[in-house]
Amino acid sequence: MCGIVGYVGKRNAVPVLINGLKRLEYRGYDSAGVAFFDRDNRIGVRRCAGKIKDLESSIKREKIKSFTGLGHTRWATHGRPSEENAHPHRAGGIVLVHNGIIENYFELREDLKRKGHVFTSETDTEVICHLIHSYSKDGRSFEDAVREALKHVEGAYALGVINEKEPDKILAVKKDSPLVMGLGDGEFFIASDIPAFLKYTRDVMILENNELVSITGKGVSISNLATKKPVKKEITKITWSPTMAEKGGYRHFMLKEIFEQPRAIADTIRGRISPEKGVVNLEEFSMKAKDLEKLSKIFLVACGTSWHSALIGKYMIENMAKVPCEVDIASEFRYRNPIIPKNSFIIVITQSGETADTIAAQREAQKLGAKVLSICNVVGSTSAREADSVFYTHSGPEIGVASTKAFTTQLTGLYLFSIALAKAKGILNKREIKELFSELLQLPEKVEKALHINAQVLKIARKFSQVHDFLYLGRGINYPIALEGALKLKEISYIHAEGYPAGEMKHGPIALIDNNMPVLALAPDDKVLEKILSNMEEAKSRGGKVIAVATEGSTKVLAHASDVLFMPKTNYYLTPIIFSIPLHLLAYHVAVLRKCNVDQPRNLAKSVTVE
Ligand code: F6R
Repeated sequence: MCGIVGYVGKRNAVPVLINGLKRLEYRGYDSAGVAFFDRDNRIGVRRCAGKIKDLESSIKREKIKSFTGLGHTRWATHGRPSEENAHPHRAGGIVLVHNGIIENYFELREDLKRKGHVFTSETDTEVICHLIHSYSKDGRSFEDAVREALKHVEGAYALGVINEKEPDKILAVKKDSPLVMGLGDGEFFIASDIPAFLKYTRDVMILENNELVSITGKGVSISNLATKKPVKKEITKITWSPTMAEKGGYRHFMLKEIFEQPRAIADTIRGRISPEKGVVNLEEFSMKAKDLEKLSKIFLVACGTSWHSALIGKYMIENMAKVPCEVDIASEFRYRNPIIPKNSFIIVITQSGETADTIAAQREAQKLGAKVLSICNVVGSTSAREADSVFYTHSGPEIGVASTKAFTTQLTGLYLFSIALAKAKGILNKREIKELFSELLQLPEKVEKALHINAQVLKIARKFSQVHDFLYLGRGINYPIALEGALKLKEISYIHAEGYPAGEMKHGPIALIDNNMPVLALAPDDKVLEKILSNMEEAKSRGGKVIAVATEGSTKVLAHASDVLFMPKTNYYLTPIIFSIPLHLLAYHVAVLRKCNVDQPRNLAKSVTVE
């Protein structure tokens, strides 16, 4: 997730772009850059690794005067954070900024290299620049070169492109990455999100996939990318306050991040599988099939919510690939003298890549001779740099302290890893893998559908927001979701909550149940459904108020709970992703009703860099 911005108008462009980038810094902040037409109508590019304020101070002294330009704030996906990998990218007279992920960049780059193109970065983006440049050399107009180049590009993009031959013009186009346009008085903006230009205009056009926008100081024209047919668009008047706009109109980052999950999961899958061939692209894990074949044991190590992912990972790996797993809390692993047999492997899971206990556990494992795979969200973080292989989740920056989209994208990564391992070991055949892929490809849409439960969850939150304790029950692969639901409620609403394997209730926790104790049961339609229904009944008969999360169509749950939240059906392994959604929403709404600081709960930090 990166942020792009573009400006054409009467103001000095660079300060407008820098201001826009600051408003988009929540989308990424590991490097930044701007491009602008100078007095001689040549394109100047200034980039630097680091935050936008670093870019601002490095160019301040130059006193650049320009009326057209592009800006970018980066959240690395392909290529570490560095000046060479920062946008804008240039090929000949073509300069562009990009937000998204290009799936077929590797093949495109190799092809362009054979034709003599020289690449200066490790990014997927640079291929688009070279493609447009190569097509504009064939005598095509700027617009047609963009149209032709994008015919060859697979993946998601929002692009702003400028061409030295046509000063004061920006072309912008999108597919599956957000892009909006701001219309001022004789000035025009493009951006990944509205806050980038809200200071200057509240008149906005939301661009759709495959719309090509051509912007000059005189006006804007929009056409279909493929057919060139003109597109008519409504102007929307934005009434949000600047702080609301930064959160995309949501009240808190946590809620925004919960609703971003369809996009985050789709981006994490993008380019990582070849559905027709039935393979997971192992280079995305920086691994080879032969590394996986010989694996005989896996340790999954993490903290907090990431540890819940690890627990679910064990179910996925052991069931799909039949490799035994041990799951450790990182702060325990490092001090317990773990016995790591030959051919075993450590997976550390960390959103930030900077959690002190996780890093220490990773180093301990490496000291003991084990290879480490880091499933991590932050490119270039300590865990990612020091690991032997890395799988990046593409959820984009997570700002709310309570982890949500990072969690479900970690689970997506573990699902892919389990399939890759099962294939390398010859346990899953092509047909079985295709079925697993087919369900995975439907996941973003099912998550979108699951989010429709929000209003119903709010009603339940109103009923229970003043309780003192909460019990969460789950079984099998959904037991860790009970732990996750309880952790989220504890950390943001300060209500005492416990997650339990439902079968364990009768060995102690049942003593706590009375009519002040809500019990949330995860009751998907799987082989242990009857068992969890009995556990719900046990709680109900002791006065407990039972809320169930169940699979749509599974009506027998209704008789055992006072409230039932029905979720879209998916396969066994992906159920935890769908079932975590109402639990994250419940914690969120309860916390808001209790007037808690949702995004920055007391005593907590986003990244725990101390032991
Ligand atoms: C809970 C939460 C924390 C983190 C934990 C590990 O909502 O966010 O429990 O999961 O601090 O952080 P990472 O994944 O950055 O290592």
